[in-house]
Amino acid sequence: MLVSPSLLSADFSKLEDECKRIQAAGADWLHLDVIDGVFAPNITFGVPVVKALRSKTDMVFDLHLMITEPLKYIENFAAVGADFITFHIESKSDPAATIKKIHDCGLKAGVALKPGTPLEAVKPYLDMADMILIMTVEPGFSGQKFMADMMPKLKELSSLCAGEDKYIQVDGGVNTDNARLVAENGANVVVGGNSVFCAEDPKAVIDCFHSY
Ligand code: DX5
Ligand code: ZN
Repeated sequence: MLVSPSLLSADFSKLEDECKRIQAAGADWLHLDVIDGVFAPNITFGVPVVKALRSKTDMVFDLHLMITEPLKYIENFAAVGADFITFHIESKSDPAATIKKIHDCGLKAGVALKPGTPLEAVKPYLDMADMILIMTVEPGFSGQKFMADMMPKLKELSSLCAGEDKYIQVDGGVNTDNARLVAENGANVVVGGNSVFCAEDPKAVIDCFHSY
């Protein structure tokens, strides 16, 4: 599996150092959780912070937009160096138009589902999307408990995408105890917030995720 540590669990007083620390530990991508305080009950960071970090690291930027109207902001995030933009199917933006806009900007497009959203909601967009993100916590905060009851949804998604070149990402509460389960159910990208950034030895955690 590829590993995309979530910056939400980093020390925000030294983001550049945190990016470098996690890249040195073997992270494949950097997961950036943009939350607007409306779509989910937290406010994190936006375009200026992504821009500032882009000038400090060559990591792949995997943006997870938990915002109400993602379509409005695709061009802004593309302009400051996003590589992947994942938005929520539950947002107010039209999914097909949002995917198209991400592609028109030359980026990879992901579609995310909250835990309560059935897979049916993304089925019409599976062909267009490069990545589907299955959330295993409610959007908003790092450090929440992994919802193992999302595994049937993950498994169904991975069988629908079998043989296709698609990223299947799992985000929320992934750690060294449940990463095997996540891999066995078909994830090929895992996000790790607290499990990676707050680990004494982040490299050991990333190595563990990579081993599945
Ligand atoms: C939650 C975010 C996650 C979160 C992951 O809204 O999408 O990316 O930061 O953190 P952990 O792995 O600690 O649940
Ligand atoms: Zn996330």
